[in-house]
Amino acid sequence: MDISAIAALTPVVPVLTIERQAVAIPLAQALVRGGLRVLEITLRTGVALEALRAIVGEVPDAVVGAGTVLNGRQLEQARQAGARFAVSPGCTPGLAAAAAASGLPLLPGVQTVSEAMSLAERGFTVLKFFPAEPEGGLAWLKAVAAPLAGLRFCPTGGIGLDTAPAYLSLANVACVGGSWMAPGDAIAAQDWARIERLAAAAANLKRP
Ligand code: 3PG
Repeated sequence: MDISAIAALTPVVPVLTIERQAVAIPLAQALVRGGLRVLEITLRTGVALEALRAIVGEVPDAVVGAGTVLNGRQLEQARQAGARFAVSPGCTPGLAAAAAASGLPLLPGVQTVSEAMSLAERGFTVLKFFPAEPEGGLAWLKAVAAPLAGLRFCPTGGIGLDTAPAYLSLANVACVGGSWMAPGDAIAAQDWARIERLAAAAANLKRP
């Protein structure tokens, strides 16, 4: 599956920062039970790769990717851990080349029109718009829709259940990313029922 096919599976991609290995599988199971199958595990913690590997092995309905991938070395580590895709907050020529060489689908981040154009030149058609809210949010996406007509975006950063519908109503939005359905206090309390409810509310968001 390429990024476009993965984005078509879900309106919302949970962005998960897992601090303890023990929560990885129950967290992923709660999200999948709620209807969110596509999961992004950020490589921001010491257990992230191990957590990713465990979810790949134990939660077969999940489509698991690695987030916060900053370079080719991390991309390769994610691929070896079983990631089906990678997400980066921005992009570099080295990371784009590593993704092309490995074949692992990459959702690269952009903040500007020039960055989007550079990645389009390399063949990317779906880009992460990050950080979405601080960088112009809905207004930015609406403004670039005509000039960047061949591109679609996964806005991430500062989006919640209340603001996601407006993003999903835009034709150039493929899906949105966010962490709101897996709050840190719910993970710490192992309140999987709450996370399942939050996931279900996110999964029920509709594209027009
Ligand atoms: C992140 O950087 O953690 C992701 O962009 C998620 O952002 P959010 O916590 O604002 O949803």
